[in-house]
Amino acid sequence: MTEGVVKKVTVQTLQKMKSEGVKISMLTAYDYTMATILDAAGVDSILVGDSAANVVDGWSTTLPISVKEMTYHAAAVVRATKRAFVVVDMPFGSYQASVEDAVRNAVELMKGSGADAVKIEGGEPYIPHIKAILTAGIPVVGHIGLTPQSVHKFGGYGLRASEKAEADQLKKDARLLSEVGCTMIVIEKVPATLAMEISRSLPTPIIGIGAGANVDGQVLVGQDMLGMSTMFKPKFVRKYLNLFDEIKDAVSRYDSDVKNGSFPSAEESY
Ligand code: KIV
Repeated sequence: MTEGVVKKVTVQTLQKMKSEGVKISMLTAYDYTMATILDAAGVDSILVGDSAANVVDGWSTTLPISVKEMTYHAAAVVRATKRAFVVVDMPFGSYQASVEDAVRNAVELMKGSGADAVKIEGGEPYIPHIKAILTAGIPVVGHIGLTPQSVHKFGGYGLRASEKAEADQLKKDARLLSEVGCTMIVIEKVPATLAMEISRSLPTPIIGIGAGANVDGQVLVGQDMLGMSTMFKPKFVRKYLNLFDEIKDAVSRYDSDVKNGSFPSAEESY
């Protein structure tokens, strides 16, 4: 990214990128240090995903994380970010029960963090919730296909919408999310041809994860593409680094240096 005056990515920038055919890059971050690096690298959008529950907190699903915890992570990311459009996930339980809950928690997340938008998992059943959040002046990013908050309903994290009925519902969900005014729609783990058809038929930017190349942008979990985890290896993750091994190697050299007395040296002492 070029230095100098930094122009913040807005809802309007993202819409212009879609209409000009410029792809949108999005990665997750949950803390100040990582967000500083992603923003300096020029990523267009940073998602403070509820995957923080897995990546940061070590839970096996995204369900346990709270609004308060998401606000904490998002505020740290916002403090680090000059250019990227920051999206914060509405966690499980913060919007499902009622439209009122959805608005109250979206407001709390936005007030407490300074993020640019909230993201909600689900399609048609959540249109009233999304409409009300938008009416409160808060941009909303949709998320359909594999929605990890519904893992127990799906019975796992497998491919979604490979059958016609589910594919038809996905197309309908995407159309409704676009019509209601979502800023972007994340589509996770669906056949590439289906995601392409949706992207080509709607004016809203479609951000894919495991949804092929023919959409308007891509999102990955930052720690996955940096190779920081050893457990999670879906085929849609491209590993750009193997940071797990690199960090492990650096830490074990530090451990040896401390034990053999070579750290700190005279130059590293006062
Ligand atoms: O929480 C998250 O990280 C997400 C992305 C995987 C899209 O929702």
